[in-house]
Amino acid sequence: MNPLAQQLNETIAHEQPRVFEMLSKLGRAIYFPKIGILSQSAEAKQKAKTYNATIGIATENGQPMHLEVIQETLSAYEPKDIYEYAPPAGKPELRTAWRDKMLQENPSLAGKRFSQPVVTNALTHGLSIVADLFADEGDAVILPDKNWENYELTFGIRRGAVMVEYPLYDADGSFNAAGLRDALLAQKERGKAIVLLNFPNNPTGYTPGKKEGEAIVAAIRDAAEAGINVVAVTDDAYFALFFEDSLHESLFGRLCGLHERVLPVKIDGATKEEYVWGFRVGFITYGGTSDACLAALEQKTLGIIRATISSGPHPSQTFVLRALKSPDFADQKARKYAIMKGRANRVKQLLDSGKYGDDLIYYPFNSGYFMCLKLDVDAEAVRQLLLNEYEVGTIALGGTDLRVAFSCIEEPELEDLFDRIHRAVLDVRAGK
Ligand SMILES: Cc1ncc(COP(=O)(O)O)c(C=O)c1O
Repeated sequence: MNPLAQQLNETIAHEQPRVFEMLSKLGRAIYFPKIGILSQSAEAKQKAKTYNATIGIATENGQPMHLEVIQETLSAYEPKDIYEYAPPAGKPELRTAWRDKMLQENPSLAGKRFSQPVVTNALTHGLSIVADLFADEGDAVILPDKNWENYELTFGIRRGAVMVEYPLYDADGSFNAAGLRDALLAQKERGKAIVLLNFPNNPTGYTPGKKEGEAIVAAIRDAAEAGINVVAVTDDAYFALFFEDSLHESLFGRLCGLHERVLPVKIDGATKEEYVWGFRVGFITYGGTSDACLAALEQKTLGIIRATISSGPHPSQTFVLRALKSPDFADQKARKYAIMKGRANRVKQLLDSGKYGDDLIYYPFNSGYFMCLKLDVDAEAVRQLLLNEYEVGTIALGGTDLRVAFSCIEEPELEDLFDRIHRAVLDVRAGK
């Protein structure tokens, strides 16, 4: 094993031994080369005042070389904030700004120990870092039966983990914390589990309430107390789009410091929150009890980044940083939130109006971009008919669920959308 990896492992094993046990084979082997090109070039940036002939960029007139055809459309930005490589961990100012934002929006994080967020190439990349560092062949990934399909590729196909599903809702339509607890405790023999918590949930748009949140935390604590090491991942992709009386915080804050056998990992980012899907700016943040352990986890994360994408895109980090620091940011976000909330409320109002009888039953939702219909006919048949007869695109999931992204339908058009969905359901039921 490389001596640097060895050193990181010893630190983690000494500071938080359970976290060391959670690392995958790759997680144990990976390290960030301290004396490689990047560190030599960082050193040169500080000291080589006459000639810096280190890293593979080109310079001209004291700034990164660039083409006018590109710069002319980006003239609000300094070439140094666009063209140079961003550090593998991301722009330091952006990391600090994101951490500040996390603290502001999650009061439960006050006084908790957690790392500086590392910038990822958006949330999918953050999730794949978790998979690389913590998932080995046969490890259980515990998630609700209504989940984002990409987890299967990231954890299952890529890393050989086994997806263990439990029903998202209980009989009352609340979050099924008992199901989560049972699925966790079933991993006792293996002694390890990765839990994916995604609220607001894709595809249902559900976020648990305070009591349900407490039950989720209790289920994870029970598993830890039973001797199971739990990598507890919060996928907060749709964070802050809470429209009703659910939790308005990430469970990450509650998971920090919960138990030595629980490693909280927060995956979040600008993608959905700041409406910049194509920018590819996300973050991975670890909770822990030891700064040395958090620093070692950060080094391992940088190792994975260096080995895969080397570093994330610089322009979009600059754009997001500028937005976070703008005095207009909060106000502009609040206005978009109001639009999204208006759409969610309108959907609920329509579905509760009686207009569609019992034809459009829906799963509880209160947040995010989506809601999900629970049909009594084949969802794929409805989807096909909607596409071919009604010019409407939806997503069919499982046998009878139909996901509707109200996030991309203007409020006045929602009624027509659901009228069409209703007609398609009736058509399928009538055997058309
Ligand atoms: C629950 C969830 N997590 C993560 C992602 C991926 O986000 P990103 O586009 O930032 O990789 C999505 C995107 O649809 C999602 O729905």
